[in-house]
Amino acid sequence: MSSAPFVTDGFWFGGDYNPEQWPRETWREDVELMQRAGVTTATVGVFSWALLEPEEGVYDFGWLDDVMAMLYEGGIGVVLATPTASPPPWFSLAHPDALTVRADGVQRWHGSRDTYCPSAPAYREASRRIARALAERYGDHPGLRAWHVHNEYGTICWCDHVARAFRAWLQRRYVSLDVLNDAWYTAFWSQHYSAWEQIVPPRDTQYLHNPTHAVDFRRFVSDEYLDCLRDQRAEIEACGSHAPVTTNFMLPTWNNLEQWSWAEELDVVAIDHYLDTTAPDGETHVAYGADLTRSWAGGQPWLLMEQSATTISLDGRIAYKEPGRMLRDSLSYIAHGSQAALFFQWRASAAGSEAWHGAIVPHAGADSTGFRGACELGATLRAIGEVAAPPVDGRVLDADVAILWHADGWWALENRSLPSDLLDYPTAVRRTHRALWHASVAVDFARPGTDLSAYKLVLVPSMFSLDAAAVRALGTYVTGGGRLAVWYFSGVADENLHVVTGGYPGRLRDLLGVRVENFLPLGPDEHVELSDGLHGGVWSELVHLEGARALATYVGGPLDGRPAIAAAQRGAGTAYYVSTLLDPASTATLLDRLMAQAGVTPVLGTTPPAGVEVVRRRGAEHDYLFVLNHGATDVTVRGDGYDLVGDRPTVEGVLVPGGGYLVARESTAPRWTVTVDEGEGADGLR
Ligand code: GLA
Repeated sequence: MSSAPFVTDGFWFGGDYNPEQWPRETWREDVELMQRAGVTTATVGVFSWALLEPEEGVYDFGWLDDVMAMLYEGGIGVVLATPTASPPPWFSLAHPDALTVRADGVQRWHGSRDTYCPSAPAYREASRRIARALAERYGDHPGLRAWHVHNEYGTICWCDHVARAFRAWLQRRYVSLDVLNDAWYTAFWSQHYSAWEQIVPPRDTQYLHNPTHAVDFRRFVSDEYLDCLRDQRAEIEACGSHAPVTTNFMLPTWNNLEQWSWAEELDVVAIDHYLDTTAPDGETHVAYGADLTRSWAGGQPWLLMEQSATTISLDGRIAYKEPGRMLRDSLSYIAHGSQAALFFQWRASAAGSEAWHGAIVPHAGADSTGFRGACELGATLRAIGEVAAPPVDGRVLDADVAILWHADGWWALENRSLPSDLLDYPTAVRRTHRALWHASVAVDFARPGTDLSAYKLVLVPSMFSLDAAAVRALGTYVTGGGRLAVWYFSGVADENLHVVTGGYPGRLRDLLGVRVENFLPLGPDEHVELSDGLHGGVWSELVHLEGARALATYVGGPLDGRPAIAAAQRGAGTAYYVSTLLDPASTATLLDRLMAQAGVTPVLGTTPPAGVEVVRRRGAEHDYLFVLNHGATDVTVRGDGYDLVGDRPTVEGVLVPGGGYLVARESTAPRWTVTVDEGEGADGLR
C-alpha cells in the first residue's frame, strides 16, 4: 500500500449497481433515486463479463459507455469492477480446464459464479485481457473513482493446474525436497516425497491430511490469488490509469487470504461485511470487522465496499434490518475508519439467486422504510463530510491495546487433528475484542513480528504457531515495558506447525515463565472455576510455574490448586498467561484488571451506559466523537463540541435516544460525559 492515506472528498455512499438486469427506463429512475438519496458512488460491472465480451475477444462496451456517461452526468462516481469473478459460459465451454475441480476430483460446471481456476493459463490470460480492455476504454474516464479488481478472491480449486502452481510455490519456499520433507514431517505415515511431481494439493484422501501440507496450501492459495490481482493491476497501470486499485476482502467467514501482505499491494483496503449476529452482538461484530480492516490498512482509512441494506442473513432465513440499524452500523464503520458506506446492492434483483437479498431500493420500491432510511443515511453522511479528511499521518484512530492477528492462526486451528475440536480461532479473538468493545476501549489488530511498542497492552488469543520473528517481537515488547497477555495454545508450534518440545507453549515458555505439561481440554458442557472467581471452558491445562507467579488457580477437579493464570516480570514489562477460554464476563473482568494495570482507559475515561458505543476518529484539523446508542435507553451527551448533524453546540447536552447517534466535532480539550438521560429535557431527539 502506498504510505499516503487514501483521501476522499466526503464519504462515499452507494453500492453495487447492476443496470444490466434492468431495462433502460429503470436506469433513469435509478439515477433520479440515487440523487434523491444522496448516493455518491456506484460499483459497476462486477458480474458483467458475459455482456462485455459476448465472444472471445469481441467486446460490447456500448451499454457500459451509456451507464458510465449517465452516472457521470448524474454526479455519481463509478467504482469500476473487472468482472473476472464470473467467467461467461462460452469461456468455460471453450476452456473446460479452467473450471474448478473439487477436492474429490469432480469438476464443477458453469451455471453459477466463481467458476474459475486461478491457476488455469486460459483464465489468467482472459482475465488480463478483459482488465486491459476495460482500462483502455475507461482508465481516464472522468467519472472513474477506483478500480475494483475481481470480487472476493477465494474460490478454491484442486485441479492439475493448481497442482503445478502449488509445486512451483513450494519449490520457491523450500528450494529442496529435503527441506520440504523436514518441514512437512513426512517421516510420519510414510509420506516422504522423492520427486516434486509426487506432491498434489490436499485432495480428498483416506484419512486426515498432513497439517503442514494443508496449511501450506492455504498460504499458496492466498499467494496465487495475489498473483491474479497483480496481473490485472499491471494491465490497468499499463494503460496509464491512475485511479486507486482495490479488491474486496470478504468477512467474516471467508478465510482464504493473508490480508497483511495483500494490503501492501492495494491502494486502499476494502471489505465486504455481512453480520453474523443480530443486535446487540451485531454491533460488536461491525467494530470487529472495521478494526481488523483499519489495522490491515496500517491504521489508515479504508472502504466498506459491501454491507446489506435491509436484511441480515441468519442460518437459513433472512432477518429484517431496520433503517436505524443500517444507519448506526454505517456510522460505526465510518467511526472506525471507513471512507464509505457502500452496499450490496442498489436495487433488489427481480430474480436470480440473490433476489431476496436486502437492497437500498427493495422490491417494494422507493416507497419503503428501507429507501427512506437510505435517504437519511445519505443526508447524514453529507452532514458529517468534513470527518472524511484524515490527519497528516493518516492514522484515524488512537488505540492503546492491540490483538495479535494472522490468517495463519486461523488456518492452523481449522486443521481437524487438534487436541480439541472446540478450539476455534475466531471465537478466541472475538471474545477479547468484544470485551474491549463493551469496555469502550479502542483496539487495533497487530501483525506478528511487528514493533508493538506503541501499545500499552497486547493480547494474543490462541495463536498456535509463531515464527521466530514473532516470538522476538513479543519479547522485545515486554522487556521494553509492555504488558502482554497470551492465551492457551499460543506459540505451541513453529511456522511449520512443529510442536516445540520440552513443554508447552514451547516458543513462549521463557517469556511467560510457565511450562505446560499436559492439555486437559473440556467437553462442550464442562467448565472450570478459578480461585479469583473467574470461569472458563473449552480448555484447561497442567501449568508449572517457571519464573511466573500464579494470579489464579483452578478450583476443584483434576487441576485443583494448580496455576490457571500467571504473570511473569520480564525486564520493564509483564507477561501474563491465561490457560483456559474465559467466559465472556470473566474475559471482561480479566481485561479490566490488565487495563487498569497498564493504564488503558475507555475513550471518554469512563465506560458509557451499556449498549452505547463511543469512538473517537481523528481528522485533519479536529477529532470527532461518534456516540452510537445501540441500546433502548436514552442518554445525554455533554461536552465541548459541535453536533454536525443537529448543527448546534453540544456543551449544554444533547439527547441521544435509544437507537440514535451523535457525531460531534470536538473542541481542543473536550471533557465529555455520556449519562443515562434523566428526562431533564435536553433537546435534540433524532
Ligand atoms: C458478496 C458478493 C455480492 C453478493 C453478496 C451477498 O459480498 O460480493 O456479489 O453476493 O455477497 O451477500
